[in-house]
Amino acid sequence: MVRRNLVASAKRARGEAARPQSYDPHMKPLVIVNSGRGGQAAVVFDACLSAGRPVAGWIRADEAAIAPDRGLLLLGDLEALLDDLLLATHDVIVGGGSAQFRRKLSLEVQASGGSLATVRHPAATVSRLAEVGAGSFIAAAAVVGVHATLGVACMLNAGATVDHDCVLGDGVSLSPGVHLAGSVRCDRDAFVGVGASIGPGVTIGAGATVGAGAVVIRDVPAGVTVVGNPAKPLIR
Ligand SMILES: CC(C)(COP(=O)(O)OP(=O)(O)OC[C@H]1O[C@@H](n2cnc3c(N)ncnc32)[C@H](O)[C@@H]1OP(=O)(O)O)[C@@H](O)C(=O)NCCC(=O)NCCS
Repeated sequence: MVRRNLVASAKRARGEAARPQSYDPHMKPLVIVNSGRGGQAAVVFDACLSAGRPVAGWIRADEAAIAPDRGLLLLGDLEALLDDLLLATHDVIVGGGSAQFRRKLSLEVQASGGSLATVRHPAATVSRLAEVGAGSFIAAAAVVGVHATLGVACMLNAGATVDHDCVLGDGVSLSPGVHLAGSVRCDRDAFVGVGASIGPGVTIGAGATVGAGAVVIRDVPAGVTVVGNPAKPLIR
């Protein structure tokens, strides 16, 4: 019964999908998953509109999740992703939630045979020699430099710059206005707060947090939060 409802919602979604002006009929419509009250999924949706990427609707990962846009069709909760038809006929991007949530769900979608969409705002600049992982998002005015590598489900927000030879693991989040110098490494699920700068060759460990406005000149161990200039571990 649940399955039949999901199939029906997928069919409805195809019929009612929001189709921007430059809709490409060969492109699979996108499903945006959102978790929590943050506005990130709305930013992803807005970039889809600017890029001419058709969006079928959104999936609510939890009770708190808010719609990326009031007019966007709600396709259901996470159970909707169990529907083979929906997975076969749509691309998925996890637009909101913690780094760990985005990474894990994105990898689960892939493991279930689904395809992840990489969404890039048309006003972003991405080197042709960079590699961007599936399910990643690159916002307006972000720059990805030559030979940079982004993993699965990374989030680069407005104006974040990733210079040459940087390596970002799966689920890494860069807030607006972050600057990574050349050859910086950010391991899985690392989070960099708004306006922070990371010096050349520095490694930010897995799950580490860099506070807003920090200037990081030394490696940050996994799971540690650093703040300030020069950045030091936050002692609570
Ligand atoms: C670093 C951070 C994660 C710490 O959050 P927290 O654990 O809730 O810490 P608190 O707010 O309780 O602050 C603890 C102490 O650290 C200081 N602090 C917090 N963030 C700081 C920062 N970015 N720079 C310098 N000091 C900071 C606080 O002033 C406080 O100091 P005090 O104990 O002397 O009063 C958070 O402040 C931060 O910078 N987050 C980034 C947010 C962001 O950029 N979001 C982007 C969304 S797109």
